[in-house]
Amino acid sequence: MTRAKTSKKDQVTKRMPHKFDPENKDLLLSAERRRSLDIHRVMSIIPILRYHTVADIGCGPGYFTIPLGKYLFDGKVIALDIQQEMLDAAKKQLDRIHLTNVELMLTEEAKLPLENNSIDGALVSFAIHEADDPKTMLAEAKRCLRADGWLALLEWHKREMESGPPLEDRIDEADLRQMAEEAGFRHLTRHSMNKDQYMLVMHK
Ligand SMILES: C[S@@+](CC[C@H](N)C(=O)[O-])C[C@H]1O[C@@H](n2cnc3c(N)ncnc32)[C@H](O)[C@@H]1O
Repeated sequence: MTRAKTSKKDQVTKRMPHKFDPENKDLLLSAERRRSLDIHRVMSIIPILRYHTVADIGCGPGYFTIPLGKYLFDGKVIALDIQQEMLDAAKKQLDRIHLTNVELMLTEEAKLPLENNSIDGALVSFAIHEADDPKTMLAEAKRCLRADGWLALLEWHKREMESGPPLEDRIDEADLRQMAEEAGFRHLTRHSMNKDQYMLVMHK
């Protein structure tokens, strides 16, 4: 069998996004972040119901995992990350408040350890720009979502600013929407979370 050759163009354009350094994980739970990114506002926008099973993809130390777990008192959160250190930090928080409806799972870069059609919603908060292949991450979310399941994508605007990831890693809002639509999602709403960050809500 002959192997498909990678063209020079593919090699040049291949994404090599940086991954959030777990050493800096406290930044993700800081008071300043809580002031600029209102968790309650996000929770009130996403079409979440208290009995849903929700995947928090790229959960980090649990900024959204914990509020999701508290809200879903008849449902559960599956919090996934490729970095064990992030999951350990999330576990510390969970243990402290005795939240038992959150499952932490180490995932691979391009394959979620979840069954087809097994979740009602997926939150991908500032993780899709870190994915080596955002399209695969979207396809994986779609595979795991039930029919009519929801997807919420939080991201940084693609422009120079003091904080956040490097410009070349960021995904422009229109591009992300197009990517999600090409993956088979239907666009529902978009929201400005603050001057630097946006959220897209989609349906399978
Ligand atoms: C900037 S942090 C955001 C964490 C959390 N969602 C939040 O908003 O606080 C991005 C996280 O995505 C994780 N990540 C990066 N690529 C991933 C992938 N392909 N699959 C799952 N998680 C990934 C990183 O390890 C990191 O914990």
